[in-house]
Amino acid sequence: MPETTILFIGDVVGGLGRRTLRALLPALLEEYAPTFVVVNGENAAGGVGITPRTADDLFAAGADAITLGNHTYRHREVYPYLDGERPIVRPANFLRSQPGRGTTVVERDGVRLGVVNLSGNLFMKAGRPAFAEADAALGDLRDRADHVLVDVHAEATSEKVAMGWYLDGRVTAVVGTHTHVPTADARVLPGGTAYISDVGMTGPRGGVIGVRRDQAIEAMVTQMPVRFETSKDDPWINAVVIRASRPRRADAIAQVLRAWPGGA
Ligand SMILES: [Fe+2]
Ligand SMILES: [Fe+2]
Repeated sequence: MPETTILFIGDVVGGLGRRTLRALLPALLEEYAPTFVVVNGENAAGGVGITPRTADDLFAAGADAITLGNHTYRHREVYPYLDGERPIVRPANFLRSQPGRGTTVVERDGVRLGVVNLSGNLFMKAGRPAFAEADAALGDLRDRADHVLVDVHAEATSEKVAMGWYLDGRVTAVVGTHTHVPTADARVLPGGTAYISDVGMTGPRGGVIGVRRDQAIEAMVTQMPVRFETSKDDPWINAVVIRASRPRRADAIAQVLRAWPGGA
């Protein structure tokens, strides 16, 4: 089993997030030489959802696979794209009738990486239970993947921590997304699964999880609807790098949190 490195990049937010990715990814590719790059793209188009053009943009920037989340269906034009051939996944525990699929397999250097997307059920809209669907997804990937990365897109840290323990020893990595704020708990669990509750986002740290802070604050202060725009202030890339040398087990996970001073 060749040494495998997976670079997973947290929710790319809007055009600034995509520019940050394009600006900072080449140096990360040089530094970490990842076998696979997986990018959460659920906020790639204007801060909410993804379109075929923005998905193509992420693939062109270097993504081998794209994961999504609660904003998957914001743009109708992406529905056929989700059912197409590209390795892009939406939460597996959405309804089967909804566009797209929840697992995909990408291959490089003779290594097959299964990518699974799950949505939390606490404070999130997902039609089916995440834990049962995680088992089903692993069954689907049983003979088709050397490594498995699970992006659990969820609001509640409790649900993500529980999913990490539930899948420990069965997958290479469980990485949390959605809150846009990186957590300080990256580690390899005893069974060999790399885990982090939230990777964070690739976008403006100077806003409120991606939104212009004046607008987010106005909405909270006035309790009235406010039109939100993506912040342009202080872009960062938030990611994790996972190293693995045995099938479906990780040796190490480390956070990659880097500012893009030129992008502000
Ligand atoms: Fe997000
Ligand atoms: Fe989300």
